[in-house]
Amino acid sequence: MVLPWALAVLSLLPLLEAQSPACANLTAKPITNATLDWLSGRWFYIGSVFLDPAFKQMVQKVQASDFYFTPNLTQDTILFQQYLSIDDHCEYNSSVLWVHRENATLSRYDSGKKFMAQLLLQDFNSTYLLAFSMDDENKRGLSFYANKPEATPEQLEGFREALECKGMDKSEIMYTDWKKVSLTIQKITEPMSW
Ligand SMILES: *[C@@H]1O[C@H](CO)[C@@H](O)[C@H](O)[C@H]1NC(C)=O
Ligand SMILES: *[C@@H]1O[C@H](CO)[C@@H](O)[C@H](O)[C@H]1NC(C)=O
Ligand SMILES: *[C@@H]1O[C@H](CO)[C@@H](O)[C@H](O)[C@H]1NC(C)=O
Ligand SMILES: *[C@@H]1O[C@H](CO)[C@@H](O)[C@H](O)[C@H]1NC(C)=O
Ligand SMILES: *[C@@H]1O[C@H](CO)[C@@H](O)[C@H](O)[C@H]1NC(C)=O
Ligand SMILES: *[C@@H]1O[C@H](CO)[C@@H](O)[C@H](O)[C@H]1NC(C)=O
Repeated sequence: MVLPWALAVLSLLPLLEAQSPACANLTAKPITNATLDWLSGRWFYIGSVFLDPAFKQMVQKVQASDFYFTPNLTQDTILFQQYLSIDDHCEYNSSVLWVHRENATLSRYDSGKKFMAQLLLQDFNSTYLLAFSMDDENKRGLSFYANKPEATPEQLEGFREALECKGMDKSEIMYTDWKKVSLTIQKITEPMSW
């Protein structure tokens, strides 16, 4: 009885090991000044998976979104200015995110409700992820951002790997479609002279 079980476990090992480098990088690391400096600037929302029905419904309406992070290193806050293209119109929202450095969490209050997301970096390059409610398997969400409106195939593969690490289904990814809305967004953002 013991032998077949041991064999089964051993045959799983290569699989787990193959998966672990990507997953190991996905643990939340404390946010430092360097992280905040790196986050500063313009980002594009690429896609996400949300299991929480309310979030899912909201995110499905988003055709595209870009935003600016302006961190304040002494206050541990980030000014968050977001453009959202929803149902063929554009919305602008700005709010303040609170930075909890030790657990890599960003929090935000919206209409009296607190929202929290954990910052996950795969490497210090051109993408990052925000993880929502990871300890609730019915509500968890993972959202992917890049410094360009379209992610490269390698970057998207990184997102899919991240989903796999977190036990989420890549077939449920809701992608943005920047091409559809770039003209609208340009019209609205140009006069703002960012
Ligand atoms: C893990 O992160 C390091 C940098 O911190 C990077 O060089 C490496 O390629 C990453 N590994 C994977 C599998 O993403
Ligand atoms: C950060 O916030 C402090 C306190 O409100 C303010 O004095 C400082 O000018 C801000 N720094 C930046 C870079 O905005
Ligand atoms: C982070 O940057 C702020 C503002 O420049 C500085 O006051 C603080 O000491 C820095 N923290 C660390 C750990 O270097
Ligand atoms: C992170 O830390 C903040 C402040 O200590 C806390 O309010 C929040 O619940 C923590 N978030 C997570 C995901 O642990
Ligand atoms: C914009 O902000 C307001 C107030 O915080 C919020 O009620 C609304 O849902 C936000 N809109 C979007 C599209 O996020
Ligand atoms: C950063 O990502 C780009 C693709 O987005 C890639 O070409 C480049 O090699 C990466 N740099 C590092 C240091 O990983």
